[in-house]
Amino acid sequence: MTIEFVDLKRQYEPLREEIMSRIDQVLAGMNLFLGENVQRLEEEFAKYCGTRYAVGVGSGTDALHLALRAMGIGPGDEVITVSHTFFATVEAILLSGARPVFVDIDPATYTMDPSRVEAAITPRTKAIVPVHLYGHPADMDPIIAIGRRYGLSILEDACQAHGAEYKGVKAGSLGDAAAFSFYYSKNLGAYGEGGMVVTKDQEIAVKVQMLRNHGSEERYRHALPGVNARLDEIQAAALRVKLPYLDSWNAARRTWAEEYSHRLADLEGVVTPVAQPHAKHVFHLYVIRTRERDRLQSFLKDRGVSTGIHYPVPVHLQEACADLGYSPGSLPETEATVQEIVSLPMYPELTLDEVTYVCETIREFVRAEKERGPRESRSAVVRGVAPR
Ligand SMILES: Cc1ncc(COP(=O)(O)O)c(C=O)c1O
Repeated sequence: MTIEFVDLKRQYEPLREEIMSRIDQVLAGMNLFLGENVQRLEEEFAKYCGTRYAVGVGSGTDALHLALRAMGIGPGDEVITVSHTFFATVEAILLSGARPVFVDIDPATYTMDPSRVEAAITPRTKAIVPVHLYGHPADMDPIIAIGRRYGLSILEDACQAHGAEYKGVKAGSLGDAAAFSFYYSKNLGAYGEGGMVVTKDQEIAVKVQMLRNHGSEERYRHALPGVNARLDEIQAAALRVKLPYLDSWNAARRTWAEEYSHRLADLEGVVTPVAQPHAKHVFHLYVIRTRERDRLQSFLKDRGVSTGIHYPVPVHLQEACADLGYSPGSLPETEATVQEIVSLPMYPELTLDEVTYVCETIREFVRAEKERGPRESRSAVVRGVAPR
């Protein structure tokens, strides 16, 4: 059996006619940017997230970068975030001119460990950017409480968390603003690039509207230097077709996650993802952990199962961050995590046969490892639910 890591063709097929007809309408009208579809999508997505404003931008990276700038973050400021994330979280901070300051993660949820935030605050700290990684919301209450105590802005990186909830409240409506990505493989994905800033703060929304469009509110009048980061009408039209399906797609992801976790539960050496009781996890990625990650990944590949590693090199150890002063050992939980994680195929259109096959193949791997003898198999074991 061959199982793709993500197979977007399966999602497209049943939507094809509707999507093509909406795209055709856009092309027939030739109103290609900041038109009706962007405006309507902004209204629909703000409503979905429970925020007042949404501003469509060119990507999740733009959303993070422009939200930070709209919050007044710039050179000389520090922004606290995590290193266990996609590089763009940190890139956006660097683009704003501020300095990223990393805190370690809670290895049970792979999100920001709130107990480490206060120690990272300095007189220059202006904002905190928690990341709802893999679709699991960060533990926001203590993060927001620290933010309020020190007068810091909170920007959620919700690029992997469309529809996730924290204590019954939608990701994106918890902080001062949030950034979403519509990268094509996200839980809500465009057919190209796209992103959205959502916020309850009118000032932030208006500033992002200007920044995405060359700092302009009125054509050929530029109040400040912005960028070209507009969401285009074709992407917005497609996203409007898809948004009503998001909840049912997330429900399917959660069903497959449950199925995986149930079938892998008794496997020694394999740690399945935990959803905290306060969290509605939307499983953008289903990530397991094992000390024999590399061997498991090639075992699965040989048997037709594609997997991924999200992410193999933590951001604080990337070349682009070399002058920030971090070195191996700076963030022990993050560094241990990246050695052991592997993401299994996860998308709403998976079938039970496919999930069963992946789990049976992992079971076969664990059995084979045991048979290799006690010396090798010992190293394959990560015990307990919460990894180191
Ligand atoms: C956690 C996280 N932050 C930021 C981004 C950046 O989004 P984009 O690729 O749309 O620029 C992504 C997605 O790629 C992401 O997963």
